[in-house]
Amino acid sequence: MKATARRPRVPAPRESPPGGRLIHGDNLEVMERLLAGGHGGTIDLIVTDPPFFTQRPQERDGIAYSDQWTSLDAYLAWLRATVERSHALLRPTGSIFVHLDWRASHHARLILDEVFGPGGEAGAPGFRNEIIWCYTGPGSPAMGQFNRKHDTILWHSKGARWTFDRDAVRVPHHPKTKQNFRGDLEGSGFTNPGHELDEAGKVPEDWWVLPVAARFPVDGVHRVGYPTEKPIALIERIIRAASRPGDLVADFLCGGGTVPFVAQRCGRLWIASDRNEQAIALTRARLRAA
Ligand SMILES: C[S@@+](CC[C@H](N)C(=O)[O-])C[C@H]1O[C@@H](n2cnc3c(N)ncnc32)[C@H](O)[C@@H]1O
Repeated sequence: MKATARRPRVPAPRESPPGGRLIHGDNLEVMERLLAGGHGGTIDLIVTDPPFFTQRPQERDGIAYSDQWTSLDAYLAWLRATVERSHALLRPTGSIFVHLDWRASHHARLILDEVFGPGGEAGAPGFRNEIIWCYTGPGSPAMGQFNRKHDTILWHSKGARWTFDRDAVRVPHHPKTKQNFRGDLEGSGFTNPGHELDEAGKVPEDWWVLPVAARFPVDGVHRVGYPTEKPIALIERIIRAASRPGDLVADFLCGGGTVPFVAQRCGRLWIASDRNEQAIALTRARLRAA
């Protein structure tokens, strides 16, 4: 599923950690500069976790970033501009993963479908998966509704060919599946007699149960304590599935640097940016310690 054409690599400025390029700046300006510098069509994978349109500052342990907007329209205009520039920066076989929650994921799906395409059964460009990341946590006794404990990650491919390394992300079969599995066992749910259960495990479903980053201690590397920081396991599954070693992975809203950290650990090249100085400082320290 992978094209092999050569492409220019984005050089790393001296102050960036090895393996990547870390830029302090507004995401749209950074992407514009890369496009103007001839880097359109060079990125293999963009993984991005924008502000969720909470309309409150996001703060933790003295680190903060703004998620306050004049209106939903203003937020969506920024999101559309982000998606359009991402599309221009991606290689023809590249993909984008956009992580949001109930506040804006439905709007983002429409924007992504418009810019990348609605996808479809026969490998059409655009929408590939809506991944539901589920986690658990205490509810409040006063809640008048179910406890909101999932985020939505939208995966779109730029073209009709994309990277999906299923073997890099297989998970073990449930013991019951192994026990029950017979190609021709009546009532087993498996109707294809020629089908073998793959001993290497199965390709995960599009819903993932993984603990939130807050469940892990802050050590400045595996977790940096950035507000709304995402867990390594979540980002690692995305990067291993949708890119290959040596590919170029980008996150222009990198926060505490989970995407560049995992990209580096997985042998990918990376570009990361954020307009928040604390985010850049934490990411730089994290990458140097990695
Ligand atoms: C949800 S956080 C990212 C968290 C990150 N995924 C992690 O694991 O730590 C969103 C980030 O977007 C950054 N941001 C918001 N608007 C931006 C903009 N216009 N340009 C650059 N960064 C921006 C914020 O500073 C914040 O760090």
